[in-house]
Amino acid sequence: MMANPIIAPFPAARLRRMRRTPSLRAMIAETELSPANLIWPVFVTEVAGAEGEISSMPGVERLTLDGVKRAAERAAGLNIPAICIFPHSDQDLKTETCERAWDPENIGNRAIRAIKETVPELAVMTDIALDPYNINGHDGFVVNGEIVNDETVEALVKMALAQAEAGADILGPSDMMDGRIGALRAALELEGYKHVAILSYAAKFASAFYGPFRDAVGASGRLVGDKKTYQVDPGNRAEALRCVARDLAEGADMVMVKPGMPYLDICREAKDRFAVPTFAYQVSGEYAMLEGAIRNGWLSRDVMMESLLAFRRAGCDGVLSYFAPAVAEMLA
Ligand code: PBG
Repeated sequence: MMANPIIAPFPAARLRRMRRTPSLRAMIAETELSPANLIWPVFVTEVAGAEGEISSMPGVERLTLDGVKRAAERAAGLNIPAICIFPHSDQDLKTETCERAWDPENIGNRAIRAIKETVPELAVMTDIALDPYNINGHDGFVVNGEIVNDETVEALVKMALAQAEAGADILGPSDMMDGRIGALRAALELEGYKHVAILSYAAKFASAFYGPFRDAVGASGRLVGDKKTYQVDPGNRAEALRCVARDLAEGADMVMVKPGMPYLDICREAKDRFAVPTFAYQVSGEYAMLEGAIRNGWLSRDVMMESLLAFRRAGCDGVLSYFAPAVAEMLA
């Protein structure tokens, strides 16, 4: 028979000692969140009457050009370093050939110029993919039911050059075509935009969490089929990391994991493995889920801050989040 173990009269470690007061807790805090870690995604519309709240994203609005200027001023006032522009284009301007995507006068490019005129020091990020201008809602050209890669990359290059010309600081290719980063980097170098950075949507998964975004940009009813032939399967970790490695080799300055919260393992692994600026996108569905529950009284508003802190703990340098202005206000 084993003797009874000796029970010490006190715990070997009292971890609660350093959790006792806010000052003590501050001393052992391991992770910091500041406005500098935020990128604020905004939707801008050229359609009269389409401005205002997006029903599946309560609290988030489609903005007019004037609204975007005010958002830029607000971002700068809150020390948010960057805004990311997503265009909501006129349905009549969506075509199969997507010319509007590289039109200097499309709403995205007008928004870039408007922000740069208003708050030149604010970094402007863009999205590169054909979906806001594609009649069928896909990120690439559809030919005989297939999303064609190389023809799409040629169009993305034109789109990127128009955004660079409009004054974008950071380009965000979100299309997931093969070879786009190398093609964009080469075009930027050769056409006089060697200063323009690329934040690649590298580990972008084929996710159901993008639903509200597709409402926001008016692509919802339009998407024919799904995006599984170009976005990564949600179960594929090695493939996602291979995307990150590939995009870095092709010239990306920074990489992104998207969606965010269900993919924190990928964030951590990408950061540890590549040690490059790593971002996550807390996407529309994550926002809708949290904000919806907050508005119903099912969750407290503290989840906002907690979710963003978790990205930082997982190794992200920054997060694209629709909560950016609200969180920056709380941090101020
Ligand atoms: C489109 C794009 C999407 C998002 C950013 N760029 C949607 C998609 O891939 O279908 C999603 C962002 C969000 O859900 O907040 N290329």
